[in-house]
Amino acid sequence: MFKIAIIGSGYIAKQHAEVISKFKDAKLVAIINPNPRNAKKIADQFACNYYSDLAGAFAAEKMDVVDICVPTYLHEEYVVEAADLGCHVLCEKPVALSIDSYDRMVKACADGNVRFMVAQVARWWPEFVTIKEYLQNNQLGNLRMIYEKRLCQLPDWSNWHSDPEKSGGGLYDLNIHDIDFLMSVFGKPDTVYAVGWQTEREAWMHVATSLAWNTGLKAVVETSLQMEGDWPFSVEFRATGSEGTLHYEFTAGVNILDAEPTSRFTMYPKDSDAMEPSVPAIDMFESEIREFLDSIKEEREASVTIAQVREVLQVIEATQKSLETGEVIKL
Ligand SMILES: NC(=O)c1ccc[n+]([C@@H]2O[C@H](COP(=O)([O-])OP(=O)(O)OC[C@H]3O[C@@H](n4cnc5c(N)ncnc54)[C@H](O)[C@@H]3O)[C@@H](O)[C@H]2O)c1
Repeated sequence: MFKIAIIGSGYIAKQHAEVISKFKDAKLVAIINPNPRNAKKIADQFACNYYSDLAGAFAAEKMDVVDICVPTYLHEEYVVEAADLGCHVLCEKPVALSIDSYDRMVKACADGNVRFMVAQVARWWPEFVTIKEYLQNNQLGNLRMIYEKRLCQLPDWSNWHSDPEKSGGGLYDLNIHDIDFLMSVFGKPDTVYAVGWQTEREAWMHVATSLAWNTGLKAVVETSLQMEGDWPFSVEFRATGSEGTLHYEFTAGVNILDAEPTSRFTMYPKDSDAMEPSVPAIDMFESEIREFLDSIKEEREASVTIAQVREVLQVIEATQKSLETGEVIKL
C-alpha cells in the first residue's frame, strides 16, 4: 500500500486527492501546507491528517510518495526535500522555470534513489490519447500541418499566475502541455520561432510558436493564459495529412470547471465520410497518477521520462529567446 502525502491544497491538489482516495493500493495520509485555511478542510474531507511542513509529516506518517501541488516557483525546494527524505516524487507541471533548477531536482532524486515524474496530464486527456494513436500509426498519411491551441482566462482561484517569477506566464504554465504532447509523439523539433504578447511585468501570456522538424513536419501552437471577458477555457487540435484531417475542439466554461464542456472530435478521411473517432473512457488524472505508482512498483522509469521533460524545457527556453530576439532558434 502506497502512503501518499500531497503538498498544497489548491485547485490541482483537490483533483489529485479525489483520484488517490479511489485507488485500492494507495492511501492519502497527509495534506501539507503552512497555511491551514484550505488544507485542514481538505484533510478532513479526505480523512487524512493535516501538517504544516513536510519534515513533520514524514516524521509522523513515513509516506513513500510525495505529490507536489504548490505554485511552480516552490516546486524545487519541495522536490529536493522530499527526495532527501527518501520519498518518490510526483511534481506538477511546469516542473521548473529553468533547466538549471530542473537539473538540481533530477540530481536530488537520483541521489535519494527515488522515482521522479512530472505530471504532464494532457498526455492522458482521452481525445489526445486517440490523437496520439492516429499520429503514431500514420493514419493521416504524410502529415502537412498541425495546429494546437489552449486559451483561457487568468485562473480566478489564485494570484500567483500573473507573476512571471512564480508561474513563468502562459509560456511555461499552459504552453508546456501542448509542447510536451507534440514532443511525446514527434520528439524534439529542430527550430522554433515565436511571436507573442507580454504584460508590463514581462510575463509572456499569449504566445504563438511555430515548430519545425527536419523530417519536414511543421506545427503551430497558440497559448494564452490571459484572455479577457467571458472567453471560455478552450482547446483545439488539428492535424492535416495526405489522407485526411483529424480535428478536436473543446470548450468549457470561463474556468475549466465552470460549465459542462462541449466538444467535437472528427476525422475527415480523404475518400470517405467524416466519422467520430473512439475515445478511451479514462480519467486523465487517474491514469497519470496510476502510471507513476506503477513505475514505482515495476521499478522502471515512468513514461514521462526525465530526458523528455528536459528537452521540453529546452524548447520553452528557446521559444522565450525567439520571443525576445525575433529570431528563429535552432535546437
Ligand atoms: N496539470 C494541470 O492541468 C494543472 C492545472 C492547474 C495547475 N497546475 C499546476 O499545479 C501547481 C499548483 O497550481 P494550482 O492551480 O493548484 O494553484 P493554487 O493556487 O490553486 O494552489 C496552490 C496551493 O499551494 C499552497 N501553498 C502556497 N505556498 C505553499 C507552501 N510554501 N507550502 C505548501 N503549500 C503552499 C496554497 O496555499 C494552495 O493551497 C502549479 O505548478 C500549476 O502550474 C497543473
